[in-house]
Amino acid sequence: MRPGRRNAGRAAPVTASPAPLRLIDVDLDAQSRTESGLAEFDRVLGGGFVAGSVVLVGGAPGVGKSTLLLQSLLSMEAAGVSTLLVSGEESAGQVKLRSMRLGGEGSGLRLLPETQTESVMAALEHLKPAVCVVDSVQTLWSGEVGSAPGSVAQIRDATAQLVRVAKDNGITVVLVGHVTKEGELAGPRVLEHMVDAVLSFEGERTQPFRILRAVKNRFGSTNEVGVFQMAEQGLVEVPDPASVFLEEGDLRSGSVVVPVLEGTRCLLAEVQALVAPSSLALPQRVARGVDRNRLAMIVAVLSRRARLPLLKCDIFVNVAGGLALEDPAADLAVALAIATAWRDGAGGQGVAAFGEVSLTGKVRYALQGEKRIQELVRRGFSQILVPGRNVEEFSKAGGRDSGLRLQAGFDVEQAVKRVTARSNGG
Ligand code: TYD
Ligand code: MG
Repeated sequence: MRPGRRNAGRAAPVTASPAPLRLIDVDLDAQSRTESGLAEFDRVLGGGFVAGSVVLVGGAPGVGKSTLLLQSLLSMEAAGVSTLLVSGEESAGQVKLRSMRLGGEGSGLRLLPETQTESVMAALEHLKPAVCVVDSVQTLWSGEVGSAPGSVAQIRDATAQLVRVAKDNGITVVLVGHVTKEGELAGPRVLEHMVDAVLSFEGERTQPFRILRAVKNRFGSTNEVGVFQMAEQGLVEVPDPASVFLEEGDLRSGSVVVPVLEGTRCLLAEVQALVAPSSLALPQRVARGVDRNRLAMIVAVLSRRARLPLLKCDIFVNVAGGLALEDPAADLAVALAIATAWRDGAGGQGVAAFGEVSLTGKVRYALQGEKRIQELVRRGFSQILVPGRNVEEFSKAGGRDSGLRLQAGFDVEQAVKRVTARSNGG
């Protein structure tokens, strides 16, 4: 034993040794869950709301958070679950109007238009609903905390109190939180550590589709997603979302499809590019749905490794349908969209691709390639460019390449040549 070590634990003498459980004796059924009333929501939660858990639902203003949660509350209330909506942003009348749109105006759902943290706590302890939604956590404030409503200290204090009440009474508390334009929760990052699950509701206001994503989930697998469509009468679930983000009609030059993984699902995304000679000293690089740094890297690789003269060109990249691509396997599709856009009017029709592009110009193996290839086959793409090892894996697993033009074993330069050459030859 090292000197000094002996005294280290002296301060807290142990009185009784706590008895550990055996893994085999842990009962998962003891974790009771309440279904949210929306299968896509349950999928993200890992099978419904866990009693006593606190779930944070973040998203930009107007994305549909209040709609999602009101729909879920109405459905749970109709199924006999006791619910409560604490509304700090909207008056009871506004909630009623929204519920009319959703066809739930006759519901017995309980409303509490309230922003004072202590009052909300008292109501929860008195009513003990199974599920309570607080819309939004940013509106809660307490006189005990010496700072303005909406401040980090207020939000943190309200969350800490809600977490305690939830655990003590077995109430599921769902907190709605606004995020800033940069996607950060308006409030402290620490909030994410205080709650059991963090879900993010994403999508562009002007687009119909919304994705609900689990960023953190103590009671389910993270990275599972739910897909919804915002319609006249609220959110409609999209159980088979693979191709809903594709634009209608034929793919044009400058447009390449990529299968991206979202949890256990594979979605097809369409990457569109436009390349034009620039009159600026610093040519523009505009990206929507693709990380700007990632785009800069792909442009650099195309310039240096595939020798495309892009340095004096403005480059615009957009992902159709308001999807934001995070999967690194989208790199090759971005590269090929730019390459076919540069070769304007040529090639690109019906091209799909995936694979991460490295700085050396190599295209790397992608996870779950089989699933991605199958989705492309299902949609009948005529030219599919895939990392070599993914093709090998696909054939080994007995995947058939009937009539499908699966192409493998290339680097970025070869891939660009194939896609642009096809256009010239026909
Ligand atoms: P909302 O749920 O208020 O967003 P958040 O709480 O995230 O700020 O949704 C706002 C948008 O949704 C608004 O632009 C109107 C639209 N909407 C519909 O299209 N259909 C509907 O049935 C409802 C209730 C809202
Ligand atoms: Mg709202």
